[in-house]
Amino acid sequence: MNHFELKDFLSKLIIFDENELLDIINLLQYNFDPESLKITDKKIKSRFNNTETGISNSKSLSKQDARIYKYYLNRYTIFSKLQTNKSCCLYMTDELWYSVTPEDISLFIADYIYSCLLNSKKDLNKTIIIDCCCGGGGNTIQFAKKFPNCIGVDNNIEHLYCTYKNSELYNVQDRVLLKYGDWFKKEDDLLNLLNQTGNCVGCVFSSPPWGGPEYLLSEYYDLEKNLNGFGGGLTNILMSFKKFSKNIVLFLPKNSNLVQLSEITEKVFDKDTRCRIIYVKSNGYLKGLLCMWGEDIVF
Ligand SMILES: C[S@@+](CC[C@H](N)C(=O)[O-])C[C@H]1O[C@@H](n2cnc3c(N)ncnc32)[C@H](O)[C@@H]1O
Repeated sequence: MNHFELKDFLSKLIIFDENELLDIINLLQYNFDPESLKITDKKIKSRFNNTETGISNSKSLSKQDARIYKYYLNRYTIFSKLQTNKSCCLYMTDELWYSVTPEDISLFIADYIYSCLLNSKKDLNKTIIIDCCCGGGGNTIQFAKKFPNCIGVDNNIEHLYCTYKNSELYNVQDRVLLKYGDWFKKEDDLLNLLNQTGNCVGCVFSSPPWGGPEYLLSEYYDLEKNLNGFGGGLTNILMSFKKFSKNIVLFLPKNSNLVQLSEITEKVFDKDTRCRIIYVKSNGYLKGLLCMWGEDIVF
């Protein structure tokens, strides 16, 4: 990574101390190639085109590549800006192709949270939205279009860089700050920082990893066992998020166990707390559940 790119990216990161800064610089200088994340037509052609016919044929691709190719063909549903601005570039990892929240859904989520907070008479100019697990920026970008301050957190530096570059697509990079690292290791320092600077977190949002396509294999998705990859399950996630804001929104699998959701809500909050669930559809297909807690959002 060249010096200027490094400086620009570092200026977007929340960094707590010198040791953390040195670790990140080392990571970026020696184990990181921003060019490999840039999606260009040329790269796509050489990766997915059938070399004999020159025509893309998903049957000749590996299962993983065929899946990614399908998402590539639908890339405008992920970031519509690519359609209106043909000269702009997208930044993705293989994992992000199927992890980024499609734009119609992220737009709905941001609009919904914005309307609720506006209704609660919050000063939205001073309100921060945290997007924990920001991935490639699908949700962060839509939040930043509505709110002047959005913090994206991810433990994958490549994903964080994609959020940074993709937010440039929508010209919202000045409204986005990023935090690198495992949420559960950084939460205390981040909380201290926000408290010291007198900032108010209007809402913590997260679309955590669901554990790959296998999430659909069982009838009911176990919100403790299967969300284990991110902080040991839903109870831990909610216990952590509620330190930052009373308003919490999670995007969870459509087959989430609702009995479990209700029990966890009672355990983490109290008997009177309600969890609002919105069934989110796109193109007629149920994509997931938007689960919400907090008096500004559930009323
Ligand atoms: C489903 S993706 C989020 C996609 C994102 N909402 C978007 O629209 O681009 C989940 C993300 O969580 C991140 N992640 C997983 N465990 C994490 C942790 N402990 N702390 C922070 N981020 C984590 C992954 O690197 C991945 O980018």
